Amino acid sequence: MYVCLCQGVTDRQIREAASNGCNSMRQLGKDMGVGRQCGRCARTAREILRESQTPDYLNLANLLAQPA
Ligand code: FES
Repeated sequence: MYVCLCQGVTDRQIREAASNGCNSMRQLGKDMGVGRQCGRCARTAREILRESQTPDYLNLANLLAQPA
């Protein structure tokens, strides 16, 4: 889905940027322009970035903590 309409940036692109080492909104804005125009995407983009940076062991722990 599109996260930043002003720059045409999708959630997939943000996740890909995170996996390539992008670790801040400042960097995301610099590299892709996310949040630099109207700013409406900033909150969602930040959440996706944060979620993408969650260590794998934490994802596994959350998965194991869910009832079957
Ligand atoms: S929607 Fe991202 S800057 Fe406007």
